Parts: sequence; C-alpha cells; structure tokens
Amino acid sequence: MRVLDLLSPFYRRDVINITDFSRSDIEYLFQLADRIIENPQMYHGKLVGRILGYAFFEPSTRTRLSFEAAMKRLGGHSIGFAEPSGTSIEKGESLKDTLKMLDAYSDVIVVRHPADGTAKYAAKICENPVINGGDGKFQHPTQTFIDLYTIYKEFGKIDDLTIGVLGDLKYARTTNSFLMGLTNFKPRKLYLISPELLRPREFILDYLSNFKIKFELIDNLSEVIPELDVLYVVRIQKERFPDVSEYNKVKGAYQINPKVLSEAKESLKILHPLPKLDEVSPEVDNTKYALYYRQAQYGVFVRMALLLSILLEDAPL
Ligand code: NCD
Repeated sequence: MRVLDLLSPFYRRDVINITDFSRSDIEYLFQLADRIIENPQMYHGKLVGRILGYAFFEPSTRTRLSFEAAMKRLGGHSIGFAEPSGTSIEKGESLKDTLKMLDAYSDVIVVRHPADGTAKYAAKICENPVINGGDGKFQHPTQTFIDLYTIYKEFGKIDDLTIGVLGDLKYARTTNSFLMGLTNFKPRKLYLISPELLRPREFILDYLSNFKIKFELIDNLSEVIPELDVLYVVRIQKERFPDVSEYNKVKGAYQINPKVLSEAKESLKILHPLPKLDEVSPEVDNTKYALYYRQAQYGVFVRMALLLSILLEDAPL
C-alpha cells in the first residue's frame, strides 16, 4: 500500500526531535514531496488563510526563507521575526510570553534558538504545532528530512550506502539529527570523520549502537574516501565552542578540494546543510560531486510536504 493512502502521520504534531519519527513517517514525507515536485500547481492554494509564525533567535538563511517560500507556494502567509531586536524581547519580555503571542496569531510555529531544548519547551506551552528550526547543538529535524530526501532522490534508496559524515560532529545539530535519522534505514557503514576534539558526544554513539548501525570514528578523510557513496560535510560551529582556544585548535582542520576528491568514486555525492565556509573549496561547487545546492532547493518541497501534512489531515493528492 502506498503510504499516502494513510491519514497524515504528522497531523497537528510537533516536530522537535528526529527520533520521534519512524521510517514510514519519513517515507510519507518523501512521497508527498515527490508529488509536489511532479505537479506543483496542484498544491498552490492548499493552505490559503493559514499562517506560519516564526521566532528566530539565531541567524538563518535557508531554514527561515525556505519555510516562508513553502508557505507562500501553498497559498499561506508567514509572520515572525528573524532576530529578537525590534520585538518586545528588547523590553525584557519573556520567551514564554513571546511564544504565546505567536501561538495566538498563527497555526504552526517554527522556533530557532541557541539553547538546547527550547523547541521542546515551546511545544509544551503552545497549543499549535511547533517545529524545531534548530535548537543549540541538539537537533534540526527538518534539515534531516531534507538530507534524507536528497539521498533518496539521488540514489533511489538510503539502505546499503556507505556514508561519511565529516566535520564538527560534537557541536553541529545537523549531523546529530542526521545520524539519528539514519537509524531508520540500513546504511552499509558510517564513517564519522573529525579531529579528535570534535568527535560526536557519547549519547549519539550509544544511539547508533542501539540500532546496530555499523560505524567507525576516524580523523582522516583520505583513508576512506574511495569507499564513500555520500559525504555529508558540516562547518566547524565556532559560536558553540565554550572556549575560543579550543576552536583555534581545530580551525581549518579539514577541507574538501579537487585533490581530495581525485580518489573518490565517480558517483560520490557531497551534501552540506550550508552555510559552508572554508571546509569546501569553491572549486567543488561546479563538479558532479556537489549536491548541496540541489539539497537546499529540495528544502522548499520537503517543507511544503511537512506543512501540508501538519495542517491537513488527509494528504491532498
Ligand atoms: C545549519 C544550522 O543552523 O544548524 N544550517 C541550516 O539550517 N541549514 C548548519 C550550520 O549552521 O552549520
């Protein structure tokens, strides 16, 4: 049975942690995103009169703008703030009261905040569904939906692939969520590639082990690059380091460039949640390996699928 025959598994649900979603939930989104890409006109008016509220306490380009674009393409509207300055937070208003106002004015709320756990707190105090747009170094579940969708579109599957995840695996919420989301699938092997200081925290490794995911921690990409089908890269999350001297030790520790890629499979694809800084040389952008701009484009379709399935009980086919 096609999963789209079912009622939406996202209907009025909060999206806080990737671990709250099953493989069939994720495949439901994939199928709906496929439908939207095939026939975008059919979805244009589906959320007329609906409002998305967003509260962003940290910088964002893709997450906020792609949610806005998604809502607009569905006929709905967005209200909110991209930074707290200019809101009553400047006068000292509490996070709780700010979120309560967005809850009163909109039908679904996206929150981004530097503190881990803020989205969960928001979901507790808001009546409308809350979507985690990134909380500290913890989770970024909608980015993971996009990352998984990008792999599925490119390879037709996620199972059986050898996937390298390179970068700041300690502080990046995107890789955290991505690794946890992969446990719904059966990758052949994961290579977690980072300087020792930036290795994933224990709870992530325990989580992977509980799902019997085969993984190896290494610090040098060139050892494994010929094996990889997918390489997921993330920047060093400078703003999350408690101590700048720790950051200075790892600054510039890795870079993908044509020389590194000369050992890769022809079919290797590089994903990146963006923003990218010096960890990917601009020369890579126009190669067959770079999939990150397409990944960002898919963001709009996946977020359209998510908003439709949170706000409508039946998937509009
Ligand atoms: C990321 C984030 O904010 O966690 N960006 C995104 O949403 N695509 C990645 C990052 O900041 O490195």
